[in-house]
Amino acid sequence: MRLRNKVQRPDETTGPDGRAQPGAAGPGAGDMRRIFGRFATGITVVTAGRDEPCGMTANAFTSVSLEPPLILVCIQRNASMHDTIGECGSFAVSVLAAHQEREARMFADHKRPKGKGSFDEVDTVAGPYTGAPVLSGALAWVECRLTTVYDGGDHSIFLGEVQALGHSETADALLFYDGGFHRLEPGVLVSTST
Ligand SMILES: Cc1cc2nc3c(=O)[nH]c(=O)nc-3n(C[C@H](O)[C@H](O)[C@H](O)COP(=O)(O)O)c2cc1C
Repeated sequence: MRLRNKVQRPDETTGPDGRAQPGAAGPGAGDMRRIFGRFATGITVVTAGRDEPCGMTANAFTSVSLEPPLILVCIQRNASMHDTIGECGSFAVSVLAAHQEREARMFADHKRPKGKGSFDEVDTVAGPYTGAPVLSGALAWVECRLTTVYDGGDHSIFLGEVQALGHSETADALLFYDGGFHRLEPGVLVSTST
């Protein structure tokens, strides 16, 4: 099989003698974005804070453990959400439905209003555990107690224990793939199960 858009492999940073080659570098941010763009994900808006809430679009979200119920989100160190989660000790994650692309773009815009004002044009309800805004019409939502923060390079990895959760009747998901937004609708799903 031919590999397209081949980028630097870690073993190419060393010469035939196994020693480091001068000037050889690992993958850059562009390579990482391009390659991981091939990993289709859902999209979430992470929120924290009751009176001065903060929201941010994130797709680095995953379920970690069932017993205890743990999830993680990875947040850039320089994002406003980074310190807000630490200060609140809790956060909520709304998994976006297909009709919420506007919200996904809004909470990924560095120039958006910050604090309460960033939710002026978004329909939300206060999460029962965190008090943070949960987006109405989201596919699913979880609320977490922050348990541990791990170093993740230019991001931090926030591990949360799920305290409350729910889902809507909507089934159409918003996806991020190959640098763009997509919709996953049951009518156009190609099932691989027999
Ligand atoms: C589809 C999508 C997914 C994103 N996922 C993440 C993520 O998982 N973690 C993260 O830190 N930033 C992520 N971002 C970028 C942030 O949403 C964006 O940089 C935001 O403006 C950061 O907040 P700030 O304006 O307070 O710095 C994502 C953006 C998009 C469009």
